[in-house]
Amino acid sequence: QAALPEGYVLRALRRDDHASGFLDCLRVLTTVGDVTEEGFQQQFDTMEKQGGYYLIVIEDTSLTESPVVATGALIVERKFIHNLGAVGHIEDIAVARNQQGKKLGLRLIQALDFVADKVGCYKSILDCSEANEGFYIKCGFRRAGLQMAHYY
Ligand code: ACO
Repeated sequence: QAALPEGYVLRALRRDDHASGFLDCLRVLTTVGDVTEEGFQQQFDTMEKQGGYYLIVIEDTSLTESPVVATGALIVERKFIHNLGAVGHIEDIAVARNQQGKKLGLRLIQALDFVADKVGCYKSILDCSEANEGFYIKCGFRRAGLQMAHYY
């Protein structure tokens, strides 16, 4: 695996990341809403207690304010099939608009793939738009199946 650009670091999301740029990263993806620091920390604690959530961020250490410029998540689903196997769900991959094209997205996926393999997942899956298919193909994924949704 190739390295991140000079001055960038990849780390786990932390409980003190409310104002780090993490939520702004997610805004390139979809609506985030007004998340208070207390709400952020409660959600963080819930995920930690539940287990199986691996949220990572990439920081541009040259930025003193809001250094987090990319994020991604792996959620591990335990199964009874495949010899008590596990499936990784890759979710909420987002790179700040002015940081796209520096392979940060690729590094996020490589890191999440590494964790998925390490914790015993036999595959990782994700949903994406047609516009992002080429990115995930470059990351080693291939088109499989069809997504169905039921909105409430
Ligand atoms: N279509 C085709 N190829 C692409 C695309 C694309 N949309 N985006 C990147 N690539 C290619 C790059 O050219 C590069 O190819 P190369 O190795 O030949 O040079 C390779 O994929 C890796 O690209 P990165 O530089 O790592 O991509 P980037 O850091 O910009 O991240 C991402 C890509 C995550 C799609 C980013 O543009 C982004 O955050 N977009 C907005 C939010 C979004 O759509 N997120 C994905 C939602 S799906 C999900 O979360 C499961």
